[in-house]
Amino acid sequence: MELWHIRGGKRLEGACFVQGSKNASLPILAASILAPLRCELHNVPQLRDVDAALRILRHLGCLAEQRGNDVYIDSSTLSGCSIPHSLMEEMRSSVIFMGALIARCGEARLSLPGGCQLGKRPIDLHLSALRQLGAEIEEDGMDICCRRAELKGAEITLPFPSVGATENAMLAACAAKGTTTIRGAAREPEIEALQEFLRSAGAEISGAGGGTIRIEGFHPNARSVCRIIPDRIVASTIACAAAAAGGDVELRGIDPRHFSTLLYFLNKAGCDIISSNRSVRVRSRGKLRAVGEVVTEPYPGFPTDAQPVLMAAMLRAEGKTVMRETIFENRFRQVPELRRLGADITSSGQTAEIWGVDCLHGAALTATDLRGGAAMIVAGLAARGETVICDDGHVTRGYEHFDMRLRALGADIYLDF
Ligand code: EPU
Repeated sequence: MELWHIRGGKRLEGACFVQGSKNASLPILAASILAPLRCELHNVPQLRDVDAALRILRHLGCLAEQRGNDVYIDSSTLSGCSIPHSLMEEMRSSVIFMGALIARCGEARLSLPGGCQLGKRPIDLHLSALRQLGAEIEEDGMDICCRRAELKGAEITLPFPSVGATENAMLAACAAKGTTTIRGAAREPEIEALQEFLRSAGAEISGAGGGTIRIEGFHPNARSVCRIIPDRIVASTIACAAAAAGGDVELRGIDPRHFSTLLYFLNKAGCDIISSNRSVRVRSRGKLRAVGEVVTEPYPGFPTDAQPVLMAAMLRAEGKTVMRETIFENRFRQVPELRRLGADITSSGQTAEIWGVDCLHGAALTATDLRGGAAMIVAGLAARGETVICDDGHVTRGYEHFDMRLRALGADIYLDF
C-alpha cells in the first residue's frame, strides 16, 4: 500500500519537465514485436504499467530492459504468442499485443485485459477490426484466441474512435497484404506517436491525427529509434494543481496544442496561460471562477482523463461547474472521496455538479483509480491541513516520481511505500 501525505496550502512555483507519455509508450512497446527489431526508445517513463509491458515482452521471449528513461528491446528472439492472464490483467494496454502478435506470429492467445475500473470496457471494436483484416477469433468470455491464414488489407470504419481499437488495427494492418484504410480512427497525439514509431520501423502509414489512417505496406527495418512524446495528462494534472493551490508554474517540453482544451478552461477560470512552442506557463491570479459546463469527448475534445483533475481544481472556484462524462460510464469514483475534504459535489449518472466552497480541509482518502487518485492529490494540495491518500498503486501506474516533481515546485508532499 502506498500513502501520499500532503500538507496543502503551499503555492507551486517554478519550472518542470513533463515526463514521457504512458499512453504513447505502451502501444509502442507492443509494436516493437511486429518484426524482428532492435528498438531504442527514449523518454519512457518509469511506471508500473511500463514495467508490466516489459514483463510481457520478456515472457514472449524478447530481450527488454529499461535503464532510466531509455528502453532497449530486441524482439528477434521472440518465441511465443500467448500471454498469461496474470500479465494481461495488470493493465488495459496489454490488449494491444493482440494486433502485434497476430501480425508477427499469425496467432495470439491471451485473455481480457485489466486496467482501471471505469465501467464496462468491451473490446468488440478491436475484435471487429481484426476480423475485417481476416483474423479468425474465438472468445469464451475470458480467453481469446486469434488466428489468421493471411491478413488482407481492408476498409475498416470504426463506429466510435476507440484509441485501443485504432492501435490494434494499425498494428495488425502492417502485416496485411494490400492497403488498409481505417476510417473514424481515434485522433489522439498518442496515435500520431504510434504512426511515427511504425514509420521508423518500416511501415508505410499516413493520416494519423486525422480521422482516416492508411497503411500501405511494411518493409521492416532492423533497427528503430524513437523518443516518447510528453504526457499531456500529467501536464494537465500539474497545471490543475497550480490553478487549485495557487501558483506560477512553467511546464517544459510539452506541445500546448496537446492539452489546449484543458488550458482553455483554466484560462476561463481566471488563470493566465502563456504558451510558446514547447512550453506553457500557468499563473493563477487568486480565486478561480467556475467554468460552466465541461463535456468529455474524444480528442480533440476535452479528455476524459483530465476530467477528475479539472474537477479537483474547480472545488474552490466561485460558482457552479457541471461535468458531463461521455466516454466512460463510471468516471466519478473520486466524488465521494473529494467530499470528505469539504467539497460540495453531487453526481448522478454521467453528470456531476460542483459548487465551489471557500475552503477545503485535509482528510483521509482512498485512491479509487489512476486519474481519480491524481485528482485527490490536486485537491489535497489546495486543502488546509494534512491529507493522507491510501493508494493501492493506482497513481504510480501513470505518474513518475510525482511526489518529487511536486516537491521541486514547493509542494509539501511525500510518498511512503
Ligand atoms: N469501447 C467499446 N468497445 C471497444 C473499445 C472501446 O465500447 O472495443 C468504449 C469503451 O468502453 C469506452 C470508450 O469506448 O467507453 C473509449 O474507449 P477507448 O478504446 O477509446 O479507450 P482505451 O483505449 O481503453 C485509452 C487510454 C485511456 C483513455 C481512453 C480515452 C491507454 C492505455 N488508455 O483507453 O487512458 O481514457 O483511451 O481517451 O491509452 C488513463 O490513462 O487513465 C486511461 C484510462
